[in-house]
Amino acid sequence: METQVKNSLSFSQVIQERHSVRKYDSSRKMSDEEINDLLSDAVLAPSSSNLQPWRFIVITDQALKEQLLPIAHNQRQVVEASAIIAVLGDLEAYRNVDKIWDSAVEAGHATTEVRNMMVENSWNAYSALSREKQKEIALVDGGLISMQLMLAAKAKGYDTVPMGGYNADQFREMFQIPQRYATVMLIAVGHAEAAGRQTTRLPLEDVVQFNGFKG
Ligand SMILES: Cc1cc2nc3c(=O)[nH]c(=O)nc-3n(C[C@H](O)[C@H](O)[C@H](O)COP(=O)(O)O)c2cc1C
Repeated sequence: METQVKNSLSFSQVIQERHSVRKYDSSRKMSDEEINDLLSDAVLAPSSSNLQPWRFIVITDQALKEQLLPIAHNQRQVVEASAIIAVLGDLEAYRNVDKIWDSAVEAGHATTEVRNMMVENSWNAYSALSREKQKEIALVDGGLISMQLMLAAKAKGYDTVPMGGYNADQFREMFQIPQRYATVMLIAVGHAEAAGRQTTRLPLEDVVQFNGFKG
């Protein structure tokens, strides 16, 4: 499989050429630095009130991947990709609101007055939400970060496949993840050994309606 030269794809090429890749060259590893570089781009994704509820478990250890394999229904990419990135969503992301607004003040993006008001408002609003609503927000933001991570990976010459095909309870158990964190998805990332399947999309007229909804 031809390897993309890093950063050589236009944005349009990135979105058109990203396909879910399920066969990886297991001899080619990504370094922790390369993975962090990717995550640094991914975390620029938008989130509700910029609370950034995403949390990641980066699994590069081969023994851990082997342990994960049956939990992810024996999907080979789990052991062959360089890393499996588990995307989690913190249902109590508002607990970081001070830190987030302190950094905005430090960067000169907000005054202390605005910071204090936003911290109070966000804390009060988000802490009062039902668990169901908090989870919904974490999952929406978790979807955005996941997409951004996959596009960032493609732009940097890697390939990915998002995975919902795993036993979330067993995954939780394996990493001792508290209920405060929702599991969003697993994303395999690495160097493709074979291109992903070509897929098609429904025609726009099936999915788009202007100025109203008729079902
Ligand atoms: C939330 C989610 C879960 C998915 N779970 C799996 C999975 O467990 N295994 C897999 O091989 N592909 C999985 N996929 C990939 C889809 O099959 C794939 O995105 C879809 O067929 C479109 O193909 P494309 O990504 O190549 O455009 C998942 C995709 C999403 C968005």
